[in-house]
Amino acid sequence: MDAMALLLDRESHGKLEGPAPTPEQMELIYRAALRAPDHGELRPWRFIEYTGAGREALGAMFACAEQVDNPEVSDKTLEKACSKPLRAPVVIAVIAAVRQDHKVPRIEQVISAGCAAHAMLYAAHAQGLGAMWRTGGFAHHHSVHQAMGLEGEDELVGFLYLGHCAGGDRMPRPLDPRDFVERIEA
Ligand SMILES: Cc1cc2nc3c(=O)[nH]c(=O)nc-3n(C[C@H](O)[C@H](O)[C@H](O)COP(=O)(O)O)c2cc1C
Repeated sequence: MDAMALLLDRESHGKLEGPAPTPEQMELIYRAALRAPDHGELRPWRFIEYTGAGREALGAMFACAEQVDNPEVSDKTLEKACSKPLRAPVVIAVIAAVRQDHKVPRIEQVISAGCAAHAMLYAAHAQGLGAMWRTGGFAHHHSVHQAMGLEGEDELVGFLYLGHCAGGDRMPRPLDPRDFVERIEA
């Protein structure tokens, strides 16, 4: 795929189905992540891949977060939380593993992890896979962070849902760069 076409045409796919990406496809997705811009070569990235029955462990974390917030939570809400990771054959938690008290500020380390996630979306698209970056309240919930072993100033930048496109996505609205760019000329 042409590089500019990749950059201009990537889109998110919320409806994903199996089969799961192959190990070779996943390898390329992670290799793309590891090319993220990285001030100070801190490699402030950590990925946890949930696949197959492993996704149930993630669903259990989401349900636990619901219970922490409301011990009286309904079974329906718990079931909904449990089923969220089942929306794709693979879900990857992308974590900024932040080096504290470093001259590279935390924000730059978190941005680097965000760039890694973005690169993973492109690597999925380039291989004909579908992907979507999601967060929601669970990505910022302390009980989910604890279960995933986040420490100190770490940040869970999001969950990447990966699989094959099942269709039904709406086309992104084209945007005009002139609406966003301010040009200063001498
Ligand atoms: C950090 C981050 C978190 C996001 N979280 C969600 C989310 O929880 N749910 C959702 O529907 N979209 C979420 N999105 C937006 C989608 O990933 C996607 O970008 C959006 O639907 C637009 O589609 P497009 O990527 O095809 O332009 C998030 C995007 C980012 C960058």
